Amino acid sequence: MNERKEPIPVTVVGLGAMGMALASAFLAAGHPTTVWNRSAGKADDLVAAGAARAATITEALTASPLVITCLLDYPVLHQVLDPSGGALAGRTLVNLTNGTPEQARETATWAARHDVGYLDGGIMAVPAMIGRPEALVLYSGSQAAFNQHEQTLNRMGGSRYVGADPGSASLYDLALLSAMYGQFAGARHALALVGTENADLPEFTSSLLIPWLTATMIGLPVLAQQDTAQDSDSPSGMQAVAIANIVDASNAQGVDGDLLSHLLIPMRDLIGRRAAGRSLDDLVDLINRPEQGK
Ligand SMILES: NC(=O)c1ccc[n+]([C@@H]2O[C@H](COP(=O)([O-])OP(=O)(O)OC[C@H]3O[C@@H](n4cnc5c(N)ncnc54)[C@H](OP(=O)(O)O)[C@@H]3O)[C@@H](O)[C@H]2O)c1
Repeated sequence: MNERKEPIPVTVVGLGAMGMALASAFLAAGHPTTVWNRSAGKADDLVAAGAARAATITEALTASPLVITCLLDYPVLHQVLDPSGGALAGRTLVNLTNGTPEQARETATWAARHDVGYLDGGIMAVPAMIGRPEALVLYSGSQAAFNQHEQTLNRMGGSRYVGADPGSASLYDLALLSAMYGQFAGARHALALVGTENADLPEFTSSLLIPWLTATMIGLPVLAQQDTAQDSDSPSGMQAVAIANIVDASNAQGVDGDLLSHLLIPMRDLIGRRAAGRSLDDLVDLINRPEQGK
């Protein structure tokens, strides 16, 4: 018979918008939850709901075997943790602060020096999604720490372990964010364009923009095959003409076409150097290895 495990104590350091949501999820799942934040008053609601407020960061770090950090950035993380690093010895630190792979690796080295099990994570969700299955959190670093705490980590959302290199979660996180920001920038441009003609923007978004962007996702697996020769139904010459038309129309409608110009210029250069009609893979090559494209 499976024994039902008691929820383990968890400490959450950092009670910004995201840290609050994380601490609330642990509390709601019955974990004894200790919290610490630079501005202590932000813990009031959590304390009213049953959390323990640590008076000092050292008290916070020693209160639980599992410590979650969610701070503004890595300089702040180290400003907060470094003076009390020894207090983490023998515990697991799961750092969900957004940063670069290099910062994650440096922090893993710091953790190893202090005898701390380390997982670095990337939260692919907004605070309102935390605690629900659609919230995805990526983890990398100590596989043993992930295996030991996976069930507890699942309180925040779905958990995906992406590898032993502590920088991997951050790399994947930034890559996914980059794709999102690119898409949002394009969507904003689209809304600005149709907005010049007083279009019904919510209607345009729900009936055309979202279905269109969803349909275009079918092209992504082809991009992912960038190392193998792929035939493309959308040759770069044709795409460069369409992009030039968007830029011209944007200028005519009084909408800044800069974003698209950045895409157009490499494509136009590409076409100048190679015969028009080559596949989109050439553009992918140019983005990946710009020095070789010259
Ligand atoms: N919010 C989101 O939608 C979202 C989504 C995914 C990932 N994330 C990531 O989660 C992390 C936290 O984001 P957030 O939305 O919670 O940000 P936030 O609301 O701005 O909170 C920032 C946190 O950092 C603390 N902090 C800032 N400067 C500090 C300093 N000098 N010393 C000590 N503490 C300091 C703040 O403490 P005070 O309260 O005292 O200012 C607060 O706890 C970020 O890395 C972010 O990228 C956020």
